[in-house]
Amino acid sequence: MKFGPLVGAIDEGTSSARFMIFKAASCEIVCYDQLEVPSIYPQEGWVEQDPMILLDIVEKCMEGAVKKLEELGGSRTDIVAIGITNQRESTIAWDKTTGKPLHNAIIWLDMRTSSTVDHLVETIPNNSRNKNYLKPLCGLPLSTYFSALKIRWLKDNVNVVKQAIEAENCYFGTVDTWLLWNLTGGVNGGKHVTDVTNASRTMLMNIETLQWDHHLLKFFDLPRHILPTICSSAEVYGNIVKGCCEGVPISGCLGDQQAALVGQMCLDRGQAKATYGTGCFLLYNTGKTVVNSTHGLLTTVGYQLGKKASPIYALEGSVAIAGAAMGWLKDNIKLISDYSDIDELAHSVPDSGDVYFVPAFSGLYAPYWNQEARGVICGISEETNKGHIIRATLEAVCFQVRDILEAMNEDCGAPLHSLKVDGGMTKNDLLLQLQADLIGIDVKKPQVQETTALGVALAAYKGVRPDWNMKLSCGEGEVTIFKSKIKDYERDMRYKRWKMAIERSFGWDSTHTE
Ligand code: G3P
Repeated sequence: MKFGPLVGAIDEGTSSARFMIFKAASCEIVCYDQLEVPSIYPQEGWVEQDPMILLDIVEKCMEGAVKKLEELGGSRTDIVAIGITNQRESTIAWDKTTGKPLHNAIIWLDMRTSSTVDHLVETIPNNSRNKNYLKPLCGLPLSTYFSALKIRWLKDNVNVVKQAIEAENCYFGTVDTWLLWNLTGGVNGGKHVTDVTNASRTMLMNIETLQWDHHLLKFFDLPRHILPTICSSAEVYGNIVKGCCEGVPISGCLGDQQAALVGQMCLDRGQAKATYGTGCFLLYNTGKTVVNSTHGLLTTVGYQLGKKASPIYALEGSVAIAGAAMGWLKDNIKLISDYSDIDELAHSVPDSGDVYFVPAFSGLYAPYWNQEARGVICGISEETNKGHIIRATLEAVCFQVRDILEAMNEDCGAPLHSLKVDGGMTKNDLLLQLQADLIGIDVKKPQVQETTALGVALAAYKGVRPDWNMKLSCGEGEVTIFKSKIKDYERDMRYKRWKMAIERSFGWDSTHTE
């Protein structure tokens, strides 16, 4: 046995999917394979992906990584467990008798349900009519972001979905559920399951009981029979039935942001991490306590590492547009031709030249939850050049994180002293320096950046070895620390300007009412 027992992690994100193979004992990466995931934009504000392509890409990544493992002298038979981590909230409906999707996946960023949100808000009794009406039950505000709105839209607008629901032939799943069902047999006995973290993003699970909630189902007018069984994040759900990993148990499942929380070893109450990907997601471990945010944060399940383990909760600040703003500068505005241009251009100017960019392309998520907000760039002068815009885009990500931290400090009482970071954008050291400057606390980047895949690999190993102590085996590892280089006065002054820009983004989309 060259590498010892190995664990595989399927990481299916919004823009790419990969399969990573880790050494179980030391958490080191052995090899991986990665492919881009194509999105479809049928109308302004709509974002879809083809579920069959998602599955195909994941299977190809598994094959690619296993081939690399064998080239390195390892053996596929050493893979003892596989975990799945995924873009959350994205919604798939399929026919359980044919296995065929009934519609493309509606991706989390998609805004087609804004009028569904408005309509549902109208159904709330007058004296308690507001978007936080269901928060005591599910921890989430009514927003286009969450799966229940997307399923309801499918039921109301897509005839085949409506008919399949009526005939009790329809299965709903987030991406974890779709992959798990297919990999464990599909129409031939596939397991229709999800884990508590993914279920906590649907708006249909009761945040205390961790079961589908009949009040929530009634509110959204959705039947129980379309929903998967909710399991913990670390247990054997089923075995893979074909392909290069045939016979291997799938024994870990976590939404990608929760997986990063585990991968960053934020396993103690009071620890927090921010992942900078398409969006940016800050999760703060609140231990066994369900903290109800009064400042626009979400209450979510952080993880439950075993059937008998206690669920650990988190407060989450979700930012819809982070890396996606750079994608917009590259693909729509063509300000850069490649992401590798970012660093040089950002360093070509000493600061953002008082330019502020609020990338509210799909409204603003936490802490504002304003679906009518739209993007604005303020402070442009004759002197403004590409470098300033790039820098303002990096700063926009950092200011949005500051918005979330302000809310977290209010909700939790005790301010954070440092923030652990990961995700694609953290390759850029300037971003992390700006982040430390704009929040005024240390920003810590771990050496192993694959925290999302690592998190679910840890869960999967725990799923087959419940007595295994992951903290002892993996520890925190080495980190690079970024410290603020600016004074409080400057930090606060720039944040004030950001808030002015935010106000200008509000209420721009007038196609529907609040
Ligand atoms: O909630 C959406 C989130 O899970 C997407 O993450 O990494 O695919 O942008 P990512």
